Amino acid sequence: MGVTAGLRLVTQDDEGIDVAFRADVLSGLAQRQKAIPARWFYDRRGSELFEEITVLPEYYPTRTETALLRDHGAEFREDAGPGLVVVEFGSGSSVKTPLLLDAIDAAAYIPIDISGDFLRQSCAELSGKFPDLPIVPVEGDFMHSLKLPELAPGQARLGFFPGSTIGNMVPATAVDLLRSMRVTLGANAQLLIGFDRVKDTRRLIAAYDDAQGVTAQFNLNLLERINRELDADVPVEAFRHLVRWNPEWSRIEMHIEALRDVAFTVSGRRFALLEGETIHTENSHKYTPDQARLMLQASGWTPRRLWTDTGADFMLMLAEATEERSAP
Ligand code: SAH
Ligand code: AVI
Repeated sequence: MGVTAGLRLVTQDDEGIDVAFRADVLSGLAQRQKAIPARWFYDRRGSELFEEITVLPEYYPTRTETALLRDHGAEFREDAGPGLVVVEFGSGSSVKTPLLLDAIDAAAYIPIDISGDFLRQSCAELSGKFPDLPIVPVEGDFMHSLKLPELAPGQARLGFFPGSTIGNMVPATAVDLLRSMRVTLGANAQLLIGFDRVKDTRRLIAAYDDAQGVTAQFNLNLLERINRELDADVPVEAFRHLVRWNPEWSRIEMHIEALRDVAFTVSGRRFALLEGETIHTENSHKYTPDQARLMLQASGWTPRRLWTDTGADFMLMLAEATEERSAP
């Protein structure tokens, strides 16, 4: 038992550069509204900074979701059933996961994350707490459906997608992802998923623009990562962290704004931004319970139960794969 070597589903070129990272940066910086997908925040430094964010006073999602996981373990076991294989999408530090693994007496654990070193370190720490649990880390992009290892033959899988990471996708992409999770998880799958709820805009802005500036470092680390990994000379000090609420899309947006006209090179390609121009780096959509239910239904999942806190800040939903497209 314990941690196996797992799977590594990333493509690097001869110089060890992540091919997908370079392609996304080069195409994203060539657009009129420059944009880089949020998954590239998470190199080792980015994963560490995210962990710092989770304990900030302004960042309520992690502590609220942790309390829900702690308080409702018996109900997860009753509703989802014991002895499942838990597949976590974007597992990061796996800090919250023991609450679920314990509650449902999991048969095995398959964490999927794009931040490979951090994933393996988190698994090593977890196996100290669960020495008898088979743990198989999968380093890769969860946006594609994956062929998972068969650990407990015939054993149904419970997808675990906490943290409101679903909110980092625009709704159309979120639906694509939820549908592909159904394929990845197989027959009789269930899904326990966290959504951040719509709330007062000032609280939302504060959660993404904290007084200590940790979220700013997290955002700007993306430029530092580009310099570290893509043979680039981006002048990081010429940029600042910018947070906006977009009411039309019910989402927080993070951007990196140029403080002056700037020009730089990435992997031999030249880019320029005018003062005030931004690179859009993250969306964090906030949902009502009805919107979250509809999104699950539109993706082939039947919502079964919802748990939320007394402040209505965050919600966890349990859903099961919808059997067939029912007539008419
Ligand atoms: N689940 C943890 C971590 C959330 S942070 C929590 O709830 O606190 C988001 C995590 O998802 C990071 O660890 C990041 O590396 C991972 N991630 C983001 N996009 C990803 C993608 N497309 N494929 C795989 N992992 C991804
Ligand atoms: C991982 N994800 C759900 C976080 C969020 O709240 O959107 C990432 C984050 N970005 C800034 N702070 C936290």
